[in-house]
Amino acid sequence: MADLETLRQRIRACAECALHAGRENAVPGEGDPQAALMFIGEGPGFNEDRQGRPFVGPAGQFLDELLRSIGLEREDVFITNMVKCRPPNNRDPFPGEISACAHYLDDQIAAIRPKVIVPLGRHALARWFPRDSISKVRARPRVFDGVTIFPLYHPAAALHNGALRAVIEADFAKLGELLRQPPPPPGDGAPWALAADEGSQQTSMF
Ligand code: URA
Repeated sequence: MADLETLRQRIRACAECALHAGRENAVPGEGDPQAALMFIGEGPGFNEDRQGRPFVGPAGQFLDELLRSIGLEREDVFITNMVKCRPPNNRDPFPGEISACAHYLDDQIAAIRPKVIVPLGRHALARWFPRDSISKVRARPRVFDGVTIFPLYHPAAALHNGALRAVIEADFAKLGELLRQPPPPPGDGAPWALAADEGSQQTSMF
């Protein structure tokens, strides 16, 4: 199985779909290679393409705020996207582009082995639950292949619709609660094993 650094190099050099032709930089993702919590957005935008880093524009600043609201920094988690190259004019990625790029995401998940995956928005949600609507299933944890999937609205949604800001903040608080849940007794089939840190408000998963 490829390690994260090998994957990073492959993604940077990838020419497996047409998106590579218009990119300045591919954006493999970044963060803790052993993160218990992984965020998956849609695809790089203008700023991300320029810098080769995920979520560094306005939506990323909001994501940073949301992370801090639950006691985390971006270095504590891993952040990546469904497609690693910017779609022209920030259009939605085409299904063929998502499927061409999917093996990188699969390999990143296999390398990191997160306990909780947060799909941000409908494109990432569709990777696990293609028939569901993000507005119906947001902030509801479900187990898939032994990993807890906790879908959330994409942070950019709050930039387009200010009323969603409070909704996203409240959903993030629920994510914080999920991470603080005490570990279930072994074998009871509960989805996550994130031990609460004794004597601290902080989660022990990090
Ligand atoms: N939106 C995304 O989906 N991903 C990024 O990296 C930035 C904005």
